[in-house]
Amino acid sequence: MTLTIPYEAQLHAGTIAFLSSQPKQLLIGGRWTASVSGKTFTTYEPSTGQPLAEVCEAQAEDVDVAVIAARAAFDQWRKVTPYQRERLLQKLADLIEQHAQEFAEIETLDNGKPLSAGLAIDVPSTVEMFRYYAGWPTKIEGDVKSVSIPNRLNYTLREPLGVVGAIIPWNFPLSMISWKLAPALAAGNCVILKPAEQTPLSAVLFCELTCQAGFPDGVITLLNGRGEITGAALAAHSGVDKIAFTGSTEVGRLIMKAAAGNLKRVSLELGGKSPHIIFDDADVETAASYAAGSIFGNAGQSCNAGSRLFVQRKVYDRVVESVTNHAKKIRVGVGMDAATDMGPLTSLEHYQRVTHYIELGRDGGATVRTGAQRPDGVPESGYFVTPTIFENTSDDMAVVREEIFGPVLIATPFDTVEEVAQRANNTLYGLAAGVWTRDISRAHKLAGLLQSGTVWVNCYSQFDPASPFGGYKQSGFGRDMGHEALDLYMNIKSVWVGL
Ligand code: NAI
Ligand code: MG
Repeated sequence: MTLTIPYEAQLHAGTIAFLSSQPKQLLIGGRWTASVSGKTFTTYEPSTGQPLAEVCEAQAEDVDVAVIAARAAFDQWRKVTPYQRERLLQKLADLIEQHAQEFAEIETLDNGKPLSAGLAIDVPSTVEMFRYYAGWPTKIEGDVKSVSIPNRLNYTLREPLGVVGAIIPWNFPLSMISWKLAPALAAGNCVILKPAEQTPLSAVLFCELTCQAGFPDGVITLLNGRGEITGAALAAHSGVDKIAFTGSTEVGRLIMKAAAGNLKRVSLELGGKSPHIIFDDADVETAASYAAGSIFGNAGQSCNAGSRLFVQRKVYDRVVESVTNHAKKIRVGVGMDAATDMGPLTSLEHYQRVTHYIELGRDGGATVRTGAQRPDGVPESGYFVTPTIFENTSDDMAVVREEIFGPVLIATPFDTVEEVAQRANNTLYGLAAGVWTRDISRAHKLAGLLQSGTVWVNCYSQFDPASPFGGYKQSGFGRDMGHEALDLYMNIKSVWVGL
């Protein structure tokens, strides 16, 4: 099947070559292959809604074949030394860096995000993640325990789990690969990757590079396909030892149920409705610019988006005015256009979801401060929305309670620390929070009171491979990044020796 390549004149020769060979295949046991059924699905380019590529669609039978191949590979992979694992991860990081332009272009075409964002954020953060975890294999250690039984030596070994299924979302397709695969591989596991069906392409290029880097056959498996088919089969499979998931809270719940069969390990990084709290003593201009960046960056399609803005009453008008000005300056457009700050939403389904929430807010009596319309000068068929700010909401409205996952901010005034802590925590979620104040005791008090896995004080959206990230409450459990993530991909064995 031949498709026309969108924005072809602007693309790197490597990207054109990549898109010219279709359908994109599955990688099983080190071999690129079609699905057993021969089924394929289409991924779309969100600035036009046109088909972008055909991709082989794994079904349950392909999952079966892949798990057998991955289990066989694990027997060999565990003989690879820590030093060799480090070298492979470093080589992979180098190769990703060398293909930065192609990766950024593929992300723009498949996900919609601005090319500049891919080049500045997604690709370098992925390289950094692989380099960080490349340092770990030679530092994974057990310890000798001070047991009180005479003539007994007791020590621990930290061993890989075996075969890990990584099920990831479409908002940061390449970075999410790195969040799951870098620690899993560093710990010595084999991984079966199931990307989101909305953005299957960067994973294909990524897996081509894992082959080039020299990872043994079957250590990394790629199964593109649909969540309810491929993802569900992987989550339920008795030959899989763990599922590492990022996505919706609803699917996180399904994965936990499916995983119960063989009691596989599960770590879940789910949705959020994160509070961003600005006190009247804060550097309000900086705070306002971060508040805008945290909800409008990546078109609001971030689990940690600061979607509920709480501003202390005295500075409320000034802050909301400033955030509104930032919102109005955002240039919404085609991701391949260098002038674009914010691209389209990633899929038609998601566009309908976000615009539905905007209607709900308006119909429910919220005031539209800015946005809530289609931007001008963008392709008719693309999934574009403008940065939107709602005011005069009540805390029980759907737009205030539910994750919208789009560029939609709810702004609301507050008076006291106690009040804002209570309202900020009045959510099923607990992923992240931001606090802006120059009062250090208030900052630390709130950092303690807020029920969320991350609290940013006088900053927001800071990520580093060394720092753990994950949820409280229904934002999930387990941590990505840091040595904390590594722990989720290993078992601890206690060895007793009679002396
Ligand atoms: P989703 O949770 O359905 O998709 C995430 C991944 O899970 C994809 O790879 C999908 O194929 C897979 N999946 C879907 N159903 C599955 C199942 N039954 N078993 C196993 N895997 C399955 O998310 P969706 O529908 O794309 O987005 C819906 C909402 O979820 C968004 O509007 C947003 O609120 C939230 N979301 C949160 C993300 C985060 O970063 N925490 C990322 C993506 C979505
Ligand atoms: Mg797509």
